Amino acid sequence: MRHRELLKRVTIFADLDDAALVTLERIAVERQYPRESVIVSQEDRGDALFVVCSGKVKVVLYGRSGREVILSVFKPGDFFGEMSLLDNQPRSANVIALESSTLLVIERRSFADQLANHPNLALGVLAELSRRLRRADAIIGNLALLDVYGRVARYLRELAKTEGEPESGSVVIRQRPTQQEIASMIGTSRETVSRALSEFQRRGFLELSGRRIILRASFALGDDSAIEVS
Ligand code: CMP
Repeated sequence: MRHRELLKRVTIFADLDDAALVTLERIAVERQYPRESVIVSQEDRGDALFVVCSGKVKVVLYGRSGREVILSVFKPGDFFGEMSLLDNQPRSANVIALESSTLLVIERRSFADQLANHPNLALGVLAELSRRLRRADAIIGNLALLDVYGRVARYLRELAKTEGEPESGSVVIRQRPTQQEIASMIGTSRETVSRALSEFQRRGFLELSGRRIILRASFALGDDSAIEVS
């Protein structure tokens, strides 16, 4: 029973009936990962699917110089590790714990059995892959079409949509990622992110207060044409 509510929240499991959820709960094994530990290494053979129970993980690629690109961040209720299970190729990226995290691990064979027995689960995986491809398309578009200030603005707007709380004409993000994490997500340096945030603050678009960002509602909802590099 402990994990049933969480499994129900995972997009691909949402349409499963109670009996299937009970089976999933039985075959899933709970594992703890300390902060910064490697959960999945690029090029490893994929032998399991993971569901985040608590904590936060990042999906990253590393350049030869060690520079990292963050492809995505997953939180409780999100899953990862499906790609190599589906195409039998090595892991497409590294997954690292950003915080001490608890994950449910569903081993390849068991997941394949569930996929074969539940067409809704297979449709759910396709829908989620499609959502992730849309997001990847948007990121490629942003990299090619927006300058770096536009990318910082676009990133903050996306964050405001998923994590922002409205507060008297503003949108508050309580725990923003670090400047280095933002830089790794939008393909720039920490110094550039720092400059962009200061510039936005100077122009009155937002206020920074530790890890909190208070975005003016007009900025949070605005379009990118308002952001020009000075
Ligand atoms: P897999 O390739 O098995 O292992 C790494 C996992 O990271 C992958 O499955 C996906 O679950 C996840 N992943 C890889 N690329 C992306 C991406 N662009 N967006 C979101 N998740 C990704």
